[in-house]
Amino acid sequence: MITNRTFTMLKPDSVSKGNIGAILEKINASGFKIVAMKLTQLSREDAEKFYAVHKELPFFDKLVTFMTSGPIVAAILEKENAVEDFRLLIGATNPDDAVEGTIRKSFATSVTENAVHGSDSDENAALESEFHFSKNEIFG
Ligand code: CMP
Repeated sequence: MITNRTFTMLKPDSVSKGNIGAILEKINASGFKIVAMKLTQLSREDAEKFYAVHKELPFFDKLVTFMTSGPIVAAILEKENAVEDFRLLIGATNPDDAVEGTIRKSFATSVTENAVHGSDSDENAALESEFHFSKNEIFG
């Protein structure tokens, strides 16, 4: 089990708008250390697997279509209390509800195109990290 680590994706909207650098700057400034990172694109099969927990929800197809629409940046971040602190940094799922200064308030435009993903538990952080990275791609 990975502890004090969380998994993130900078979603296709962040990459296509040229926001990778600005978002990574906020992540670094908030005390997170990047221990793994890659630019990649999810296949439909990958995205359906990654978001399997949402399969029965009405937005599932829209979510998968968006997440496969272009490259993403996948990363593993390290910091004490990483999962909780990162969720505070990214803000509410819907940018309309996100607090000023959060990543989604600054960069997201809708509940679908919401700039970043952040794991919701230590257990999911470990599963999501393993989904995207092999052991020799993780440093630290
Ligand atoms: P993420 O943190 O990647 O995890 C699940 C995603 O589902 C979430 O971000 C949103 O982008 C998306 N999502 C959640 N609720 C809705 C909704 N009501 N309509 C569309 N997409 C949603």
